[in-house]
Amino acid sequence: VSKRATQWFEDLFTTNPDPWGFDSTWYEQRKRALLGACLPRQQYGRAFEPGCAFGHLTEVLASRCDTLLAGDGAPSAVERARARIAALPDDVKAGVSVEVLDLPDDWPAGPFDLIVVSELGYFFDPDDFEGLLDLMLGSLAPGGDLLAVHYRLNPDDAQTGDQVHAAVRRRDGLERLVEHVEAEFLLDVWRRP
Ligand SMILES: C[S@@+](CC[C@H](N)C(=O)[O-])C[C@H]1O[C@@H](n2cnc3c(N)ncnc32)[C@H](O)[C@@H]1O
Repeated sequence: VSKRATQWFEDLFTTNPDPWGFDSTWYEQRKRALLGACLPRQQYGRAFEPGCAFGHLTEVLASRCDTLLAGDGAPSAVERARARIAALPDDVKAGVSVEVLDLPDDWPAGPFDLIVVSELGYFFDPDDFEGLLDLMLGSLAPGGDLLAVHYRLNPDDAQTGDQVHAAVRRRDGLERLVEHVEAEFLLDVWRRP
């Protein structure tokens, strides 16, 4: 499923340089600010951001994590994310790496103190997302946080944002620290005790 999906994104980026309005919309700007404010810890050790696209969120996370691995299945997105990170001050970009990672196959070895899944889960159908969730929870360190944020009004994707968050809520062994509900998106933070 993932190889086909990532080619679809690569094609999308060649025809539309900013398909979700990361640079142009208040929705995306505000969501990034909210996400940073909702991270319970000021500083994290080792973090993973799957599906980083052009690195807008990577930039927010960079100053909050000692080491941060961001990945995307689309090589052109990774190139753009690397350029965005390269423009940051040395002390902020230290410890940040951006790699081509086609999920779920290339899920990196943990443990991670923070995993941020932003606008990614609904591209996986419910069964495949359960597999991705196994990988996330399997690589989350004890005391680590999982943040998920997903747009809710997306009937054409493999599942809705609400389904994605409901799937995480069904999992045992996570403590929910943040529950943010809006008409347009959900943002939750869970901690592995
Ligand atoms: C809507 S963007 C989200 C970007 C970023 N997480 C944010 O919220 O600002 C989704 C990104 O996930 C990537 N993606 C989708 N399916 C993927 C997969 N199976 N493996 C790796 N990346 C994937 C796409 O290439 C795209 O860049």
